[in-house]
Amino acid sequence: MFINFRRIHKCRWVQLLTTSLVLCVVMVCWEPLDHHVVSHVRSYAYRYLVNRFDFINSSFVARRDRGDAGGGTPGYSYLIDHPGKCDRADGGGPDDVLLLLFVKSSPENGAQRRAIRSTWGNETYARRRLDAGVRTLFVLGAHPDPLHRAWVQGELRREDRAYGDLIQQDFADTFHNLTAKLVLQFRWGRRRCPQARFVMSADDDVFVHVANLVRYLRALPADAATGLWVGHVHRGAPPVRRQDSKYYVPRELYPWPSYPDYTAGAGYVVSGDVAGKIYAATLALDASVYIDDVFMGMCASLAGVAPRDHAYFSGEGKAQLHPCIYDRMITSHGHAADMYALWRATVERAEARRTPGPLGDWYCTAARAALLCRPHFVDTYSCMAAFA
Ligand SMILES: *[C@@H]1O[C@H](CO)[C@@H](O)[C@H](O)[C@H]1NC(C)=O
Ligand SMILES: *[C@@H]1O[C@H](CO)[C@@H](O)[C@H](O)[C@H]1NC(C)=O
Ligand SMILES: *[C@@H]1O[C@H](CO)[C@@H](O)[C@H](O)[C@H]1NC(C)=O
Repeated sequence: MFINFRRIHKCRWVQLLTTSLVLCVVMVCWEPLDHHVVSHVRSYAYRYLVNRFDFINSSFVARRDRGDAGGGTPGYSYLIDHPGKCDRADGGGPDDVLLLLFVKSSPENGAQRRAIRSTWGNETYARRRLDAGVRTLFVLGAHPDPLHRAWVQGELRREDRAYGDLIQQDFADTFHNLTAKLVLQFRWGRRRCPQARFVMSADDDVFVHVANLVRYLRALPADAATGLWVGHVHRGAPPVRRQDSKYYVPRELYPWPSYPDYTAGAGYVVSGDVAGKIYAATLALDASVYIDDVFMGMCASLAGVAPRDHAYFSGEGKAQLHPCIYDRMITSHGHAADMYALWRATVERAEARRTPGPLGDWYCTAARAALLCRPHFVDTYSCMAAFA
């Protein structure tokens, strides 16, 4: 009897100790846990509300009575422009443009622009090899440092005389002005290239497999070729509330625990009609949310457009370097000088794949599964993509 009582006692103690230990661990780890798990669960539950625009509407419709400018009317003027970029070479009016490709660049990123021009941004390649009307434009603001601005601007004008593919407005090219760059793209597209059937926006450290993209866009059924917004979708993402983060958004600016669904800004495609609707929305909304892809999500939510996920648009991650990945990839993030090597590899692969056999397909599915279906911590192609 006595022993039994002691045993119960001991059990209680063990229980008490484990409980307090668990509590201690939770308390110590709460911040990362909150950041990585709890805030995501909460925000995911919340996204159904946030994705209905009327929920966030009243707070973000530009308050003209207060004198706020809508996103589209900050009055930035063009420093470099090409009004005739989408016209026919023989001056015979608007050309047939399948894809208008905006590359978000910065004044000092000349090496990235050179790499893109001689690889995936090459319009001549797209016309000759893919028989596709593609227009590539680099979208820039002005150098943020007034001391360097005049010199850098001279270099940019020289670059533009050689290639004729820069568009630039006079806002400071900084992270917190990315929304101005987003508005510039949609405004330019609306004014100068309204006939473009699809519009893409990509970062200048992204690799785009243009041949795969063109094939995908051409294969879209008629009802999917309008109302399209495709990319790597973030669903119910929570705003970052840690002040040390680049993506920090204060509660005063965005009070809800979840953003509307949006595609990663590294690379996404919209159809021409959606581009027009987004432009209209940028005029109506207060552009104070400075994370451009989130702002895009809010504009799309106002326009009633939902993003569509595509397994081969990467988010933050770099594609695995493998010929079987090259057959499917659309975008890959985080490239610099390796753009040239990747371009050569993908072009060679495309030529070699003219006559694929069933054995090759089996092999590639297995190879992709081996590459993609293991734990990785960057936002790249999912395991499902191996079988897509
Ligand atoms: C947004 O809210 C305003 C009033 O705050 C309302 O007049 C307008 O119809 C709403 N728009 C949409 C698209 O829900
Ligand atoms: C673009 O491609 C064409 C044809 O493939 C090639 O002749 C030209 O040199 C390329 N342009 C650049 C800048 O590499
Ligand atoms: C955005 O650009 C404007 C115009 O150059 C500038 O006044 C402003 O400081 C910039 N904003 C940020 C956050 O860099």
